[in-house]
Parts: sequence; C-alpha cells; structure tokens
Amino acid sequence: MDAKLITALEHFKKSEGNITVLTGAGISSESGIPTFRGKDGYWTVGSKEYHPEEMATFRMFKMKPYEVWQWYLYRKTVCAQAEPNLGHLAIVELEKVFQDRFVLITQNVDGLHLRAGNSPDRTYQIHGNLNFMRCSDECSDLIVPLPNKIPFKDKTAPITETEKKLLTCSQCGAIARPHVLWFDECYDEKFFRFYSSLRKAEKTDLLLVVGTSGATNLPMQVGVTVVHRGGALIDINPEPNPFSQMAISVTNGYYCSEKSSEALPQIVKFLKK
Ligand code: APR
Repeated sequence: MDAKLITALEHFKKSEGNITVLTGAGISSESGIPTFRGKDGYWTVGSKEYHPEEMATFRMFKMKPYEVWQWYLYRKTVCAQAEPNLGHLAIVELEKVFQDRFVLITQNVDGLHLRAGNSPDRTYQIHGNLNFMRCSDECSDLIVPLPNKIPFKDKTAPITETEKKLLTCSQCGAIARPHVLWFDECYDEKFFRFYSSLRKAEKTDLLLVVGTSGATNLPMQVGVTVVHRGGALIDINPEPNPFSQMAISVTNGYYCSEKSSEALPQIVKFLKK
C-alpha cells in the first residue's frame, strides 16, 4: 500500500474514532449489476430508449406505472441472481471490527450489503431498496417486501393482471410503488435517513468512499462535512470523480484508483491488524 494511505489509516487507528463507508453502484458492478450511468443502465420502452434519469422518476411512474414496474422487477431479478463480492464482504468485516464506531451509507438499492451481512441498523439505504414497496398514495409509511409470488422476470416480460393486483397497497388498494428515491423526489429522514447520515458525517474521522460518480446531493454533503471537520477521506474508484478531487485536495486524503474488490480487502486487513 502507498505510504500516504498507510499514514491516513494509522492515524485513524490511533484516534479510535468513527468510520463511515459511503458506497455507490461501482461496488456492485463486480457482482454483475450494471452501474447507473454505465452503458448497460438504459431501458427500452417500445421504440424509445430511456436513461435511468428519465425512468427513475415519479413523473414517469405516474405516466407509465407498469413500464416502471417492469424495469424494477427486471432489475430486482438481476440483483437477486447476483452475489455479494469481496468488496461487500470486506465492509461486513469492518462492521464486525468497529461496531458502533461504524456506519454504512449506501446509494445502492440492490440490497447486497444486507445480504452480505451488514446490519440493517448500521446500513443507511439512502436511496431505498428495490426489494421493497410502499403505497404510491402515501396512505401510510408501511414498507413491505415485494410479493414473492412475482417470479423472476427478463427484460421483455410484461406485468400480468395477477401481478398488478399483487402490486397494490394492502391498506388502501392504491397502486404500490418501488421503495426507492426517485430523481424528482427529495431526501427525508423517515424513509432515507437524511439527517442521520449528516449527523454521522459530523462525527466521522475516516470516510471510505467506494464506487460512486458523486452525482447526488447527500453523498456530496457527507464528503464535504467530513473534510470540513478534518476527517480523512479515501476514495476508491477506477475513474476520477468529485470525491477523488476532494481526496487529493486535502492533506489526509487519498485517491485509490483500484477496483473496490481489490482495494477494500487490503484496507480492511490493515485496519484489523
Ligand atoms: N470499483 C470501484 N468503483 C467502480 C467499479 C469498481 N469495480 N466499477 C465502476 N466503478 C465506479 C465508476 O467509475 C463510477 O464512478 O462506480 C461509479 C458508478 O457511478 P454511477 O453509475 O453514477 O452510480 P452511483 O454513483 O451510485 O449513482 C448514484 O444516482 O442514479 C442515481 O439513485 C441512483 O444511487 C444512484 C445514484
């Protein structure tokens, strides 16, 4: 490992402070789940190709609810067939070592961190989880698992009438929606742990940022908050991005341009020593 990285990790070890891991789609790419802004993220409806930024909106859900559901059920299938990789498993190790000094803030809706073994209490799924749904009319805050009677779906499988009935709110009968944060919606505490994430950032001594392009608001706020309080920032991403810029602009920052499945196990091994 690079001397600068070792210094940052040694310093954190001595401080006995708090560690926050912030993940994005890149950590799951080695499990075979396409990243959001990568070329496989697009979706075709009829003859038109949509970007995730168009599909993942409440506006699109209002216009074409079952097209949006078809996209999510296909993505749920891809995620269910994927396995956590060495990067996910390294983060599970971190939680075991640091326990209450650890928190994981993830933008990923694939549920792989929880499947790998991170605890729901210390995993803030700030963009939701596509294995769950809730009422689109917001008659209650109830979040329920997607009905397991809905089978795995390939890209072209439409939603059947039986499935439409399953995708309804059990309380009021309105159509249910995926439990995710869409591009035209705002973060909140109730569903997405907005304030909890910022409070954790204010107490973070070491922030590991993994596999995110830095295109969303709350993750950037977390990064800025940690850096302002003098915490160390390590960004792991083969591609330069706003977090790598932040990391190289502070003395206790480090940009690691390796894949997460390579870099994270080494970092965790060092922190465990
Ligand atoms: N290891 C580390 N990073 C990787 C790897 C890897 N093996 N493979 C790809 N990456 C990086 C890419 O270089 C890119 O910077 O992961 C990042 C993925 O970026 P995005 O697809 O933009 O995903 P993300 O940052 O998670 O998107 C944020 O925006 O679209 C919304 O809600 C959606 O949660 C998503 C959020």
